[in-house]
Amino acid sequence: MPSADEIRDSQRLTWAGLAAGWEKWDSAIMDQLGPVGATMIERLDIAEDQQHLDIAAGTGEPGLSIARLAPKGRVVLNDLAAEMLEVAGRRARAQGLTNVETQVCSADDLPFDDAAFDSVSVRFGYMFFPDVAKATAEFARVLKPGGRLCSSVWVNPEENPWTTILMQAIATEVVVAPPDPDRPNMYRCAAPGYVGAVYEAEGLRDVGEWDVGVALVTSSPDEYWEMMSEHVSLAVAALQQVDEPARARIRANVIAKVSAFEKDGKVRVPGMARCIVGTK
Ligand SMILES: C[S@@+](CC[C@H](N)C(=O)[O-])C[C@H]1O[C@@H](n2cnc3c(N)ncnc32)[C@H](O)[C@@H]1O
Repeated sequence: MPSADEIRDSQRLTWAGLAAGWEKWDSAIMDQLGPVGATMIERLDIAEDQQHLDIAAGTGEPGLSIARLAPKGRVVLNDLAAEMLEVAGRRARAQGLTNVETQVCSADDLPFDDAAFDSVSVRFGYMFFPDVAKATAEFARVLKPGGRLCSSVWVNPEENPWTTILMQAIATEVVVAPPDPDRPNMYRCAAPGYVGAVYEAEGLRDVGEWDVGVALVTSSPDEYWEMMSEHVSLAVAALQQVDEPARARIRANVIAKVSAFEKDGKVRVPGMARCIVGTK
């Protein structure tokens, strides 16, 4: 079993390497994940003077949207990878936001006082933490009494063809090891009730979860391939193991499969996320 330090080091390296892809494909990624951020924000009930912490904020969402709703408040964007937060900083400046700070650190060891925040969000971060219970205990510690935690994770691969098309094509060329429950992977928190049970174990109440459909939209099957092979952690890692002819076969396979989702000049590949809310 990998140590917490090993997991953090490998995550830091992975996401440092993915930051350029996330910045390049910013608009398509934000459109895909936007409905998840919107429903999380609704449940967090943001006031104009909200003190908010966005964990694993990556390139800045949903924290930047929350900062717009809290002009008299403050939003701290946290991430393990400085390179991801640099993109978030550029996006915040481009949007003219002045109530946003960034903090590079791990979700399970936060440099904030107890009861410092009104709310905490974690959009697509939970599955990468070395210890989800320890991280949740930290979120509960920094929340004020009555404050809310809202996170989102991916549900099972079957409901997420936007990644499975690519991963199945990769698996025809590379032996992809079955997911190790002790290591981060995109679907590690997919079991219904899994994250909610962690919230309850760490003392949060009124825990609820709901599913949200998303769609990855690109202008062509080629663009889908280009985008996916430059920003999805699982795919980027697997594609590094193949030679050029194998990569060309995977690309052809992906483009043939994803063409089934092409309609009216766009490719729309569906996915399903789960949001989990709880109150301190
Ligand atoms: C899929 S991205 C999500 C980014 C953003 N929240 C969004 O939804 O667009 C996952 C992020 O989790 C971060 N991450 C991984 N392990 C972490 C940890 N232990 N503590 C904080 N952030 C972590 C990665 O660096 C990466 O930026």
